Amino acid sequence: LTVDWDAGHYDTGGYEHYLLKEISEQPESIARTLRGRLDERFHIAHLGGLNMDARETRSFRRVKIIGCGSAYYSGQIGAQLIEELARIPADAEPASEFRYRNPVVDPDTLYVAISQSGETYDTLAAVQEIKRKGGRVIGIVNAVGSAIAREVDGGIYLHAGPEVSVASTKAFTSTAIAFALLALHFGRVHDLSPSDGRRIVEGLRRLPDQIEQILKQGERIAELARKYADHPSIMFVGRVRGYPVAREGAQKLKEISYVHAEAYPASELKHGPLALIGPDMPTVAIVPDDELLDKNLTTLGEIRARGGRVLMVGHREPDARLADDVIVIPKNEIELDPILLTIPLQLLAYHAAVTLERDVDKPRNLAKSVTVE
Ligand code: AGP
Repeated sequence: LTVDWDAGHYDTGGYEHYLLKEISEQPESIARTLRGRLDERFHIAHLGGLNMDARETRSFRRVKIIGCGSAYYSGQIGAQLIEELARIPADAEPASEFRYRNPVVDPDTLYVAISQSGETYDTLAAVQEIKRKGGRVIGIVNAVGSAIAREVDGGIYLHAGPEVSVASTKAFTSTAIAFALLALHFGRVHDLSPSDGRRIVEGLRRLPDQIEQILKQGERIAELARKYADHPSIMFVGRVRGYPVAREGAQKLKEISYVHAEAYPASELKHGPLALIGPDMPTVAIVPDDELLDKNLTTLGEIRARGGRVLMVGHREPDARLADDVIVIPKNEIELDPILLTIPLQLLAYHAAVTLERDVDKPRNLAKSVTVE
């Protein structure tokens, strides 16, 4: 068993919990993930650790992303970024499922393994299975020199710094940033235009200040957490870019507050889970200002019509009839929306856990690194 960092060597830096410290560190951790990797001249990302020249980078026809838990959800954000910016088919799968289903390993596919700790057994075993079958696998890893980092053919280190709290926060957002860099890199060796490249580079540079602005809403989000945490169950919904954000929001709430949460694509509600909606089950709705805004607002109306309370996270206040509460966040490029939308959900889960007097940094039944099958 390998432990990436010994919590005993780090203090909470004046915060009540490691988790709040790590949430609050995200302007700096994201800046470290970006440092030295953005090129203003060609609007590209420098990712020397991939060990791949341009010809090889062009040769992949698909990208397959694997990871566990929150790493898998950040992989879903990554798959969307790669498809949007590079137009290469990409998808994410839990590493724990991938390794058990005798996967077809395709020489034209680039495999990407994600792990904060670099020690998750299922992800490591999946990497070994890919390599055994002759596949090419890169890593997006936080812990330098960890087992997964040593096993892969190249990759991107997050440089997010030590993550002590069991719930992953800054590693999650840094992984999404690493995928934005990877998608920009792939995009610019394919057909992403210099102006779109510049748009993404400039958007990435704005993120640390924008996260700072969201963190300033901490007290208000704490009040909302106190209001919503006494429900037995909370629904999280989002569409396309908002869906992995909803999954991560539900995951954070479940793991540290033990409040039951479900995450669904908003478009799936009417295919079943709408039956759950009523006064006892509020919904946290991810509603960015993108091409799906109107559809998302229609969903809010459907929830409200069933007596469901709505906490919306988005870029503007909707009609007051559609949401009981709104967390408004700064706007960036639409492709980068998931990164900023995640931050209020981390704070919501944190404050819910504090309200319910949970063991925030060491939730029951969970370990920071799952080094067993
Ligand atoms: C995240 O909050 C969880 N504690 C968990 O899902 C975690 O992301 C997962 O176990 C993967 O860990 P890794 O990134 O260290 O591989």
